[in-house]
Amino acid sequence: VRDLIAAALDAGIRLFDHADIYGGSGKAEEAFGNALAGAPRMRDGMIIATKCGIVPGVPYDSSAAHIARAAEDSLRRLRIEAIDLYQIHRPDLLAHPEEVAAALAKLRAQGKIRWVGVSNHSPFQLEALQRSCLFPIITHQPELSAWHLEPFRNGLIDQCMRLRMTPLAWSPLAGGRLGLSAAEARASPDGSRLAALIERLDLLAARENAPRSAVALAFLLAHPAGIIPIIGTQRPERIRDAAEAFRVRLARADWYGIVEASQGAPLP
Ligand SMILES: NC(=O)c1ccc[n+]([C@@H]2O[C@H](COP(=O)([O-])OP(=O)(O)OC[C@H]3O[C@@H](n4cnc5c(N)ncnc54)[C@H](OP(=O)(O)O)[C@@H]3O)[C@@H](O)[C@H]2O)c1
Repeated sequence: VRDLIAAALDAGIRLFDHADIYGGSGKAEEAFGNALAGAPRMRDGMIIATKCGIVPGVPYDSSAAHIARAAEDSLRRLRIEAIDLYQIHRPDLLAHPEEVAAALAKLRAQGKIRWVGVSNHSPFQLEALQRSCLFPIITHQPELSAWHLEPFRNGLIDQCMRLRMTPLAWSPLAGGRLGLSAAEARASPDGSRLAALIERLDLLAARENAPRSAVALAFLLAHPAGIIPIIGTQRPERIRDAAEAFRVRLARADWYGIVEASQGAPLP
């Protein structure tokens, strides 16, 4: 874990995204916390994000009592004084936004969390929560990639720009599907549309002399909303590949070409 963190820091990556459920019952937070405790200098300049609100078997709980307890548990496992970015993982339909807001405000007042974000909320759900909060919600984390374009269409990214929130893109390589060969993609359930997208990304990758993953990430970086892709690889060499996204230059025609390949139809 320490080597992976070091590889990310070396590549200029500072934001580390966790959730209490990752790895099963806090195991991922625990492993990260132990690695950090062994090399505390790594914490300098690092932004540690985590999430609460998904409870296996429940399935969602954003009650005030749960949020308070979950934050304490994450702090203990991560072995840090404060969580830089605390996110509500998925909306709990049974928790009133005012209850969620009050729980988050209390954690902020106690100095246990610095900033607040949400994940997998609709624009309306974000609006309802933001109206109950006296502090800004600064990030929204939807699934977003060259393959999964919905947040560009459902108002979420527009809302981020309007409210000056930073979008964090989960599964920016479509959970690894954008790493398949075109032949593998064609044989997958996503078939020819995924293969066509991969071929389009490969053409741009050859032109830019960059890995395909870097082009897929550059697609997100090129958007004016200031999207931060949250990469999920467990391999240092792929972390380094991802960082090449910063030097890939996509023209407007390249960007819309990726959209057309992804949706399998020309834009009007
Ligand atoms: N908020 C939410 O509800 C939510 C949901 C899902 C994820 N997330 C966040 O988003 C992060 C990333 O999600 P993700 O892991 O799905 O992201 P991803 O980067 O789209 O996919 C990662 C997967 O792709 C593989 N991969 C990466 N580069 C590859 C390449 N060049 N060729 C082939 N395979 C490649 C990785 O395998 P290797 O490890 O072998 O490289 C890994 O299995 C998570 O860690 C989490 O922080 C949030």
